[in-house]
Amino acid sequence: MNLDKRVAILTGASKGLGYSIATALINKGVTVYGIARNIDALNEMKNKLGENFYPIQLDVTNEIAIKDWVNKTFSENYIPDILINNAGVGSFHKIDETPTETWLNMINTNLNGMFYITSSIAALMKKKNTSSHIINIGSIIGKIGRTEATAYCTTKFGVQGFSESLYIELRNYNIKVTCFNPGSIETDFLKSSGITAHSNMLHTEDLANTLIHILETPDNMLIDEITIRPLNPKPPVK
Ligand SMILES: NC(=O)c1ccc[n+]([C@@H]2O[C@H](COP(=O)([O-])OP(=O)(O)OC[C@H]3O[C@@H](n4cnc5c(N)ncnc54)[C@H](OP(=O)(O)O)[C@@H]3O)[C@@H](O)[C@H]2O)c1
Repeated sequence: MNLDKRVAILTGASKGLGYSIATALINKGVTVYGIARNIDALNEMKNKLGENFYPIQLDVTNEIAIKDWVNKTFSENYIPDILINNAGVGSFHKIDETPTETWLNMINTNLNGMFYITSSIAALMKKKNTSSHIINIGSIIGKIGRTEATAYCTTKFGVQGFSESLYIELRNYNIKVTCFNPGSIETDFLKSSGITAHSNMLHTEDLANTLIHILETPDNMLIDEITIRPLNPKPPVK
């Protein structure tokens, strides 16, 4: 896909990986609708990224609000070309110490949130002939288990299955689907679980550049799944 003047929706745009993906897309001439709950952070991004970045305050778990916004913003005459499902939460607990609220929040955000927006946008994308692309941000631990990660692994294995089924379902509509599985990223994501980010983790800018490469592949070439990990995942020795 030639990215210039394309239209993208990006969830989880306000920080971390989403921030870098938004920046990389804007630099390629894409109009970006950046969704997150923290509107101050999104507005600050607009100041930096310019008028092609639209800050959208939405909670991806709110099905009605998501569908209302899609219906108000898009139509058969204005259909997004790209959807990046990046919003996600994760925390890590032993099974018998996992609060139900934490379990439900991960399922709601990482799986239900992805379903609400993807189902609305896919309905529109199916109506256009030009190429479209949906990228779902999974995780390395959507492919292998990890101790004290049952809830998060459940959601990211779900992202993997969702993505694989969806690419088979949508390929004949000229819609690509990619499951993008990073290892540990140097963001605040793991902080709430007491895991400190370090410089040998993946860098958001590098991941964003790889994601741009995937979007720019020829229309009849699909990278359906990619796993990206630090070569040396251990913290640097001080
Ligand atoms: N960090 C890692 O090590 C790692 C590794 C593999 C995969 N991933 C995946 O990569 C993605 C991005 O992670 P990150 O490291 O960039 O995390 P992050 O820095 O914590 O950012 C998460 C983003 O998701 C948004 N978000 C969370 N809940 C939301 C909701 N209910 N509605 C709308 N937006 C919501 C947050 O915005 P608001 O708080 O403003 O809503 C924020 O913009 C996630 O899907 C994560 O599972 C992360």
